[in-house]
Amino acid sequence: MKTSELKRVDIIFDCVQCAPIEVVKKALAMHPDEIIEQIISSGLRGRGGAGFPTGLKWKLAKEEVSDQKYVICNADEGEPGTFKDREILDIVPNKVLAGMAICAYVIGAKEGFIYLRNEYNFLLKKLIPTMANFNKNMQEIGLDFTIKLFSGSGAYICGEESALFESMEGKRGEPRNKPPYPTRNGYKGKPTVINNVETLVYCNMIMRIGVEPFKQLGTKDSRGSKVFSVSGDTTKAGIYELELGIGVDEFVNEFGNGDTKAVQIGGASGFCVPRKDFANKIIGFEGIPTGGSMMIFNSSRSMYNVLKDYLEFFVEESCGQCTPCRVGTQQLLKGIEAIKHGEMPSSYLNQLMKLSETMKVASKCGLGQSVPNAFSSIVKNFKEEMIY
Ligand SMILES: Cc1cc2nc3c(=O)[nH]c(=O)nc-3n(C[C@H](O)[C@H](O)[C@H](O)COP(=O)(O)O)c2cc1C
Ligand code: SF4
Repeated sequence: MKTSELKRVDIIFDCVQCAPIEVVKKALAMHPDEIIEQIISSGLRGRGGAGFPTGLKWKLAKEEVSDQKYVICNADEGEPGTFKDREILDIVPNKVLAGMAICAYVIGAKEGFIYLRNEYNFLLKKLIPTMANFNKNMQEIGLDFTIKLFSGSGAYICGEESALFESMEGKRGEPRNKPPYPTRNGYKGKPTVINNVETLVYCNMIMRIGVEPFKQLGTKDSRGSKVFSVSGDTTKAGIYELELGIGVDEFVNEFGNGDTKAVQIGGASGFCVPRKDFANKIIGFEGIPTGGSMMIFNSSRSMYNVLKDYLEFFVEESCGQCTPCRVGTQQLLKGIEAIKHGEMPSSYLNQLMKLSETMKVASKCGLGQSVPNAFSSIVKNFKEEMIY
């Protein structure tokens, strides 16, 4: 275990009052291709979970020819254990809006939306006047771009980009077939850039501080820093901006309380790392990726209960469109309950593992495809807790 304190990074919340409008003005003086080049060279990857290269996403949308394009800020934040986008929108909303405006200028969009998780409507009191003021400022500096709000309806699946478009279009929030991807066929069938709240702030900040200070942080595959939502058995629950590429052991050393048995990285759809692996896993795209959720569990916690909670969540949140996920989530839940109650032998876990692997390859979207992450990492590492 390393004993040194983890280095804190201060990019996202730095300089709350500094003028994001000036950053947009700076961007407007540049050619859109130059901005794309800078974002690509920064190595920034999406902070919503999937880690798609942001500059490439903007480039693909820019290359599309269309009478209308859109920029959407994904503020659905439904992953269990994630609460950083709420804070970012509350503390530095102008930086998010400026990131959207820079994107709009680059791809040629006139309209943008913040898709806000319904439970976050308490943010509206501050956000609505901030947006109105920002929109006015954009017209004044000559950028024809208006940002509107869309309030989500409380479904985890509506955070998935194509389900989000469907819900904005007034339909059931169900993922679409891909390809085509949003950069070609997004909101209302038009080219759309959809980015996470935090990604948009990093775009804004890369334009402000330059590529190098961002690039110097992190690792080759995970450049920069990230905002983590830390919860569970810790005395330091909260949000922290840290470099990507840190070891799980460093993280536990900083946030655990000396008795950490496991860390769930990336929420219910992420991976469980047991104590024996803390020293050889890193947090980042080449190791264990996370949209921000970091849940710490002490020795007193039942990992059976943790897994059961996650599966109940997935049963509830599966949109039901495809069979592997709709039926698979229910079978996994019923299966672990039956084993725990002695109604099925422990060997049945092997069949459940096979089922979860089938879900990974046969489910239509990221929800069903990621159920096996928590399932297999918890079952493999805490098998003795699963059985009767
Ligand atoms: C079930 C599900 C839920 C998701 N929820 C969110 C979310 O709440 N916020 C988010 O930014 N991305 C979420 N995503 C990822 C989005 O589909 C998309 O990849 C992301 O918004 C792209 O932004 P980024 O490139 O900046 O990360 C979710 C994906 C899935 C499969
Ligand atoms: S994987 Fe699950 S959430 Fe995704 S489309 Fe299929 S049923 Fe819906």
